[in-house]
Amino acid sequence: MTNCQLHGQKGTCKTASHFCIDTGSIIFGSYAFGGAPRGKGWIEGVPHPNIRPRMKDLLRVLKYFRPDAGRVAGVFGLLLANVALNVLKPWPVAVLIDSVLGQKPLPGQRAPMETWARPLMAAWLSAAIFLLYFAQGGLSSAQNYYSIQVSLRGLTRVRAEIFDRLLRLSLRFHQGATAGDLIYRASWDTYSIQTLFQQGLMTFVTASLSLAVMACIMARLNLPLTLVALALAPLLVMGIRVFGRAMRERTTRAQQADSRVTSLVQQCIAALPLTQSYTREELEAERFQGEAKEAQRLRLSQHGSELGYGFAVAVIFGFGTAVTTWLGSRQVLAGCLTVGGLFVFLSYLVLLYEPLSQLSYVGATVAGALAGARRVFEILDTPDEVRVQSPAAKVPEAGDIAFRGVCFAYEPGREVLKEVTFRLAAGESAAIVGPSGAGKTTLLLLLPRFFDPGRGEVELGGVDLRRLDLKDLRRHIGVVPQEPIILPATVAENIAYGKPGAPPGEIAAAARAANAAGFIEKLADKYQTRIGEGAARLSAGERQRINLARAFLKDAPIILLDEPTSALDGESEELIAESLRQLLRGRTALMVAHRPATIAGFHRVLVLEEGRLTEFGTPAELRAKGGYFARVTGLPKVE
Ligand SMILES: Nc1ncnc2c1ncn2[C@@H]1O[C@H](COP(=O)(O)OP(=O)(O)O)[C@@H](O)[C@H]1O
Ligand SMILES: [Mg+2]
Repeated sequence: MTNCQLHGQKGTCKTASHFCIDTGSIIFGSYAFGGAPRGKGWIEGVPHPNIRPRMKDLLRVLKYFRPDAGRVAGVFGLLLANVALNVLKPWPVAVLIDSVLGQKPLPGQRAPMETWARPLMAAWLSAAIFLLYFAQGGLSSAQNYYSIQVSLRGLTRVRAEIFDRLLRLSLRFHQGATAGDLIYRASWDTYSIQTLFQQGLMTFVTASLSLAVMACIMARLNLPLTLVALALAPLLVMGIRVFGRAMRERTTRAQQADSRVTSLVQQCIAALPLTQSYTREELEAERFQGEAKEAQRLRLSQHGSELGYGFAVAVIFGFGTAVTTWLGSRQVLAGCLTVGGLFVFLSYLVLLYEPLSQLSYVGATVAGALAGARRVFEILDTPDEVRVQSPAAKVPEAGDIAFRGVCFAYEPGREVLKEVTFRLAAGESAAIVGPSGAGKTTLLLLLPRFFDPGRGEVELGGVDLRRLDLKDLRRHIGVVPQEPIILPATVAENIAYGKPGAPPGEIAAAARAANAAGFIEKLADKYQTRIGEGAARLSAGERQRINLARAFLKDAPIILLDEPTSALDGESEELIAESLRQLLRGRTALMVAHRPATIAGFHRVLVLEEGRLTEFGTPAELRAKGGYFARVTGLPKVE
C-alpha cells in the first residue's frame, strides 16, 4: 500500500485504513441523493471534484472524537514525553565523543576525565543510550496505540450512524442508489474519518509540535546552522506543488480502474447463467483482462509519481544535510564547535526533517480523506422524506382506508397516479386490477408510507397517514410483496421476522395456515433449516408460502398483497389460494390480482389504467358495466 506517500507519512499507514477513499465518488457517485430516479447512479469518468478542505467538514469529523477528549489529551501527553526523549537521545553519544574519546571536560566539570575512568564512563553512556531508546520506543508505541484506538472508536461511531441512517432512509432513496455504492460508503468511505483524525489531525499536531521543539532547541545550539537547515522548507513546498497534483490525479484514476474491475466481477457473477448459456466466457475473460491490465498500468503510474516525490524529498534533504555538514565541519575546524556538538546537531537534523516531510503530506492526506468524509456526510444529511407531523396520532383500530385525490410521481412531470379517489370500509377486501405499469404497486406502497402522495391524502380511519405514528402504522400493516423476500436465516426466524421471540407453536400454526407446514416438515432440520442466500434453496411457491406465514404471524389488521401468485405454477397457486382466503378473512385488504377466480371472492374491485382509477365497484357491478374488468375477466357485457 504505497499510496500512503500521498495519504500519510511514510511507514505509519500500512493498515487498510488509509485508502484513498474517493474511488466511489467517480464510479458511483455524482448523483443527487434523495430524489434520484432509479438507474441514474452510475456516472463514470466524471472528473474528480477539486476538493479544498472546508473547516465545517473538519470540525464535523472532530465531533466523532469528542467523547474521547480525555484519551486524546493522554495521547498528547505521551507525545510530549516522546519528543523530550527524542531530544535527549543524541546526548550520550555527544558526551562520549567529546569527553570520553576527546579531551573536553564532562559537563559541569573543569578538568578532562581521568584515563582510568574512561572505559567505565563509556559503558555507562552506552547503557544510557539503550535506556533512552527503550523508553522512547515504549512511549512511541503507547502513543500510537492509543491514537489508533481513538481513531477506530471514531470510525465505529460514524459507521453506526451511517448504518442507522441507511435503515431509516426511504424507499425512494434506496431505489435511486446502487447497493454497491452504499456498501462502499458505509464500509470504506467511513475509514476517511479515521484517516482525517490519525493521518490528518494527529500527524499535523505531532509534526508541528516536534518541528517547533526541534527548531527551538537547534536554534539555541547553533542558530546559523539551523537557519540553513530550515531554508529547505520552501523547496519542499515547491516539491509538493509539482508532484501533489499529479499524485492526486493518478491516485484517483487508479482507483476508478480498480472500482471498474470490482464491478466487472460483480456484474459477471450476477450474469453468469447468461454468460454460460451463451458461451461468452472467453469474451468476458478478455474484457476482464483488459480492465485488469488498465488498472495495473494506472496503479504503476500512481506509484511512479509517488516515488518521484519521495525521490525529490530525499534529494532536498540530502542537499540540506550536505550543506549543514559542510558548514558544521568548518565550524569544528575553526574550533567554535565540538565534534560531539556537530553530531548532536546532525542527529537533530533528522528529527527536524521528519516532521517537515510529514507536514508536506498532510494537506494531500486531508484533501483525499475529505472527499470520502463528504460522501459519508451526504448520506447522513439526506433529509427524511417520510416525516410524521407532530403530535403523532395513534393508529385507529379497524379504520377504513380512503384515497382522496391522490397524485404521485417518481419523477417530476410524469405522474404515475392521477387523482385516485376511493374508500374501502374496514374488513373489506379489494382487488386491484390493471395493465402492467398502471401504478398498482405504487398505490400499495403509499399505505405503509414508503412514499407520500404529491397531492391529495391517504387516510386511515379518517386520519391522514402523515399524522400517524409511522412505526405504529407499519405495525398495523402486513405486506406480501410480489417477489418473496427470504432472509439468510432459519425457517423459523424467517417466519417470525415481524414477531421476534414468537413461540414455536405460533410459528408452526402460521406455517400451517399458509400451507407451508407440509414442505417445512420435510426439510432436513425442519423449522431450524437455514434458507436464503448461500443455503438451501426453496421453490418460488415455497418462498411465497414462507412470506404468507410471516404475514399470518404478524396478524396485522390491514394486509397488502402484490400479485403474490404471479410467479407460481398452477399447482402452487392452488395451494396458496386457500391460504390467501384464510389470510384475508376479517382483515382490510388490498391485493393486486389478475385471475378471475381469485377476484370473484373480493368485496371490491379497483381498476387502474395509466394511473387513473377507471372503475370501482363490486365484481358483479363491474362485470355488468362491461369495461376493462369485464374484458379481462373474459365475460361478455351484460345488456
Ligand atoms: N422507483 C421508480 N422510479 C421511477 N419510476 C418508477 C419507479 N417505480 C415504478 N415506476 C414507474 O411507475 C409506473 C407504475 O409502476 P408500478 O406501480 O410498478 O406499476 P404496476 O405495479 O401497475 O405494474 C411505471 O411506469 C414504472 O415504470
Ligand atoms: Mg407491480
